[in-house]
Amino acid sequence: MTTRRKLVVGNWKMHGSHAANAELLQGILAARPFAAADVAVCAPFPYLSEVAVTLANSGVAWGAQDVSAHAQGAYTGEVSAAMLQEFGCRFAIVGHSERRAYHGETDQQVADKAQAALSKGLTPIVCVGETLAQREAGETEAVVKRQLSAVIHTLGQCIGEIVVAYEPVWAIGTGRTASPEQAQAVHAVLRAQLAAATARAADMKLLYGGSVKPDNAAILFSQADIDGGLIGGAALKAADFVAIARAAG
Ligand code: G3P
Repeated sequence: MTTRRKLVVGNWKMHGSHAANAELLQGILAARPFAAADVAVCAPFPYLSEVAVTLANSGVAWGAQDVSAHAQGAYTGEVSAAMLQEFGCRFAIVGHSERRAYHGETDQQVADKAQAALSKGLTPIVCVGETLAQREAGETEAVVKRQLSAVIHTLGQCIGEIVVAYEPVWAIGTGRTASPEQAQAVHAVLRAQLAAATARAADMKLLYGGSVKPDNAAILFSQADIDGGLIGGAALKAADFVAIARAAG
């Protein structure tokens, strides 16, 4: 019997401003404590400094939405794990479908980014998920297993230190959520794959992402292998994000 504490992470994507971030963070801080879940926000790089100042010692963690696979060097535009560590990041999202789709990130690059994050003590939140065409072609399981497999092979026993986020591409920002049964079925596949690789699989957190809202969070989070959520649009409104974090309990 495992007692996995829920984790609810906001992925702000390319949203925010000094003023909007301050209001959002104050709204989240005012709602503490979150009894049933650990809570974090993943902000755009330029705002990490102010997020770090605002959330220091608050119990709310923060992270980035990407990280370079490289340690340092001539990689214009990239941000290293060591830099994120200096700004107190606990998490780095890697392999989000928007990065896979718009920036051509491969399974191996995602795995390398996860390894880079771990090397500096950050927890990578590794995103996997199928497109609508892949789901309709019956390829969901094969796709997510292939995506996770690259990470398992690259990290070896360190795989037990990552968080996995299952985000069906067709559910992201569309208002079309995977049903609790659909999401649980994929989470069970992922946990079984992890169990074949590490004895720590039962303790690992598997998040669901894709149109999670206050009114569907509780049923999603109550599924056996769903340990919380990676929240996009609803993470931009404090009241919604707080309601989702509370739905974890
Ligand atoms: O990473 C979170 C995400 O892609 C889900 O976005 O807006 O559907 O909650 P959204």
